[in-house]
Amino acid sequence: MRLLVTGGAGFIGSEYVRMTLREHAEDSVVVLDKLTYAGNLANLESVRGDPRYRFVHGDIADAAIVGPLAAEVDVIVNFAAESHVDRSLEAPGQFIQTDVYGTYVLLEAALRAGHERFLQVSTDEVYGDVESGRSREADALRPRSPYSASKAGGEMLVWAYRASHGLPAIITRGSNTYGPHQYPEKIIPLFITNAIDDLPLPIYGDGSAVRDYLFVEDHCRGIDTALRTGEAGCDYNIGLGSEVSGLEVADTVLAALDKPAALKQPVRDRPGHDRRYALDTSRMRSLGWEPRVGFADGIRRTVDWYLANPSWWRPLKSGEFWEFYRRNYRRVTE
Ligand code: NAD
Ligand code: DAU
Repeated sequence: MRLLVTGGAGFIGSEYVRMTLREHAEDSVVVLDKLTYAGNLANLESVRGDPRYRFVHGDIADAAIVGPLAAEVDVIVNFAAESHVDRSLEAPGQFIQTDVYGTYVLLEAALRAGHERFLQVSTDEVYGDVESGRSREADALRPRSPYSASKAGGEMLVWAYRASHGLPAIITRGSNTYGPHQYPEKIIPLFITNAIDDLPLPIYGDGSAVRDYLFVEDHCRGIDTALRTGEAGCDYNIGLGSEVSGLEVADTVLAALDKPAALKQPVRDRPGHDRRYALDTSRMRSLGWEPRVGFADGIRRTVDWYLANPSWWRPLKSGEFWEFYRRNYRRVTE
């Protein structure tokens, strides 16, 4: 298979690229990435010399770049997105441009190239806050942040291209993913890198909102399983099935690094904070996929990676990172 992996210099996309080249000897991969603040060529350093891999710097919303690349490959796997909920609250425009308009450009190119597969990487956040039970693929989408609304918008275009043009597209909805190479704005890498430096761990509200934390390798194996054995026209939930609160994340990270509980710092809650996501993953499991890495094991591996790779994350925690940080986090007493 010849793959165009968009957003392949980001956290999950780069794991997917490394995994594909390692596990599918016959495959080749072109990565198209805009290299936003979250894109990082260091994530692809280990595959740089592989003759089956090529990197193209560009925007998925640019049809002049996307069209010729689509014509060279068999399938597009779309990871490219603005991905941080808090940034979407401050500046939603780029989310709509990339996650909605960019998805349209890719779908149009896939259609013109006559692709027999298209995979859209989406998120459990499109279901919105799930008070009880587990979301199934046929459930209504009820996004509640500009980020999740833009991801839902991208999905709806995929649905439209399936129905109107018969594009054989698959959507995966993964849960909150963590592991090596994650930009340190998301809770787990932020808490790990702050704790290493004895900085406070900012906990939104009372820290009781839960997420289903999924190790990045499990997420990528799920996407790959859906791509290669999933049914065209189907959506697939991918999650571990756990429910871990923000406070539990902080406690686990602090214990793994032998740091004091006093580093936990309550901050103003995220506006519109979704309290819970929970997925029914039986459709994905019927394809033979199941997660292999539990939360305790995954956190240990992730903590060890950040401890061993300060040259990867220290340069990221400078300049714009701290400007956003200062704007985003407010002490509860302020
Ligand atoms: P990330 O922010 O680490 O990486 C996104 C990548 O996309 C970066 O390399 C960035 O440079 C690139 N990109 C952004 N805009 C682009 C554009 N217009 N054109 C080309 N490239 C562009 O994100 P991630 O955490 O790796 O997430 C990847 C995908 O998985 C996203 O679609 C996200 O919505 C989805 N997802 C993420 C999670 C999670 O917990 N991180 C869970 C489920 C689904
Ligand atoms: O569920 C899938 C989604 O997971 C992906 O689609 C998104 O791209 C990804 O960013 C992630 O979204 P979340 O909003 O769940 O992740 P985040 O790490 O921002 O927050 C996780 C939880 O931790 C959430 O309840 C908010 C809380 N939190 C987060 C940060 C950054 C804190 O308490 N403090 C923080 O500093």
